[in-house]
Amino acid sequence: MGAYEEGSAALVVDDGSELAAAVAARLAGSGRRVHVLRLPGVPERITGATDHALSGWGVTELAERIEPVLADRVSLVVDVTAADGGDWSDGVRRLAHTLLVAKHAVEPLGTAAASGRAAFVTATRLDGRFGLGGVPEEKVPAGGVAGLVKTLAVEAPAVFCRAVDLAPALDAQAAAALVVDEASDAVADTVQVGHDGTRRVGLTVAERPLRAAGTDVPQIGPDDLLVVTGGGRGITAACVVELARQYRPGLLLLGRTPLADEPEWARGVAESALKGAAAAHLKATGEKPTPKRVEQLSGAVVGAREIRATLEEVRAAGSEVEYLAADITDAAATAAALAPYRERVTGLVHGAGVLADQLIANKKASEIERVFAPKLAGLRSVAAALPAGALRHAVLFSSVAGFFGNQGQSDYAMANEVLNAWASSFKQRNPQAHITSLNWGAWESGMVSPQVKAIFEERGIVLIPVETGAKMFAEQFCRRAVRTTSSPSSGRRRRCPSRSGPRAVRR
Ligand SMILES: NC(=O)c1ccc[n+]([C@@H]2O[C@H](COP(=O)([O-])OP(=O)(O)OC[C@H]3O[C@@H](n4cnc5c(N)ncnc54)[C@H](OP(=O)(O)O)[C@@H]3O)[C@@H](O)[C@H]2O)c1
Repeated sequence: MGAYEEGSAALVVDDGSELAAAVAARLAGSGRRVHVLRLPGVPERITGATDHALSGWGVTELAERIEPVLADRVSLVVDVTAADGGDWSDGVRRLAHTLLVAKHAVEPLGTAAASGRAAFVTATRLDGRFGLGGVPEEKVPAGGVAGLVKTLAVEAPAVFCRAVDLAPALDAQAAAALVVDEASDAVADTVQVGHDGTRRVGLTVAERPLRAAGTDVPQIGPDDLLVVTGGGRGITAACVVELARQYRPGLLLLGRTPLADEPEWARGVAESALKGAAAAHLKATGEKPTPKRVEQLSGAVVGAREIRATLEEVRAAGSEVEYLAADITDAAATAAALAPYRERVTGLVHGAGVLADQLIANKKASEIERVFAPKLAGLRSVAAALPAGALRHAVLFSSVAGFFGNQGQSDYAMANEVLNAWASSFKQRNPQAHITSLNWGAWESGMVSPQVKAIFEERGIVLIPVETGAKMFAEQFCRRAVRTTSSPSSGRRRRCPSRSGPRAVRR
């Protein structure tokens, strides 16, 4: 452990797995002072380390237990998520907890980095390929850990960050040796590493067709019925309008915003004047026009207007469409809303998502829950309400924030990485389905606020124009894999064979 300051300590977060015990034993065996933080329900079993037990998942207890430990000159934190037996919700709770561990560790590790290496290392046992090979669904949430580590690397560049995924076939001792080796790697800028039993692998970006030539996607058309979460508003709405133009599938758009008739006070009022009108209405009805209430009232009107506009555009493009007001984080409400259509649904587009940007050091459990819920619990509710075996198409809206990590977006990056792993897991369980997890870069609209837009522009990052993004989305439903010499940025459209028949594309 020569990279670390002499006499500094290590902290192992023990999830009860053999791997956690083996990592702690190996670190202690190398002469290092080791603390073990046992997660709730994990029995004490590691000798040669100082034991700290958590009785529950509460944030106050975590802070009380972990802060004195980290103050003991901890320069290496190894957070292990490798235990078998939990279900999906256990996995998501554990994922959020890993982010809270990082929240407490980021500052002490930053300080420790001034006197030698300081590292935050995570160890998972998906498939040695970050879950992208397709793992059982209950294991999928652990795939989100890499999104945290990549974001930590952005937010705390002085800290050595590594997410290690190990194939279950590796025995605990071999796996622990690899984790400890990774923590001592001389190359510091590789953040995500997998060991699949034979090779050490990473992830990179390459320009490749999304599918091999000759692999056909099921034909989509008016007989299909697609459930689209978040489809009433934002970029997903733009995508479904384009899909309607090209293929005319039936569409069920889900969102929380109720689609009631416009209230009297808002009728005919331009969007720019809605806040003033909402404040006047509140005053007139004897209610104090607090900024929160004004935002609530005007936001609901803007939201409903957006949804009405989407429905009109989709109908004008030739699709049948319905809007279902449902919060997809509520499994029962989602199942009830979708029940009348269940047997006819042939596809899913999961676009719902929210942001709550904040640096890891300042993350609150409530923000993590807000960001995780629509992406993760929402996906599960919708998937559970649909006949998985009958789904021919599934497209998930993930983000480059997950692939690269992004400042302030640790929870968002984690949730999107889970979507990527879920896509592989779903494909393995449902080989008949054509499934894609789109890791979008930033668009010109949707959740990208004018402030964020300005930051991107300042950095020279090109935002995806709405029309281009919507066409890229529709391309996912293109029946045949097609390569053309033109690219969206060149202004010429990539062509998909039209519904009237195949089309030859010459280079
Ligand atoms: N915009 C980008 O640049 C960008 C980049 C990468 C990835 N993405 C992804 O693309 C997706 C759409 O982003 P956007 O920019 O269009 O965001 P947006 O404008 O904020 O729209 C989010 C959509 O999700 C719906 N939603 C949120 N929580 C929900 C819940 N609990 N139940 C049902 N619907 C819910 C919202 O509808 P209600 O408010 O009515 O519930 C809205 O339609 C997200 O998953 C995002 O992560 C976007």
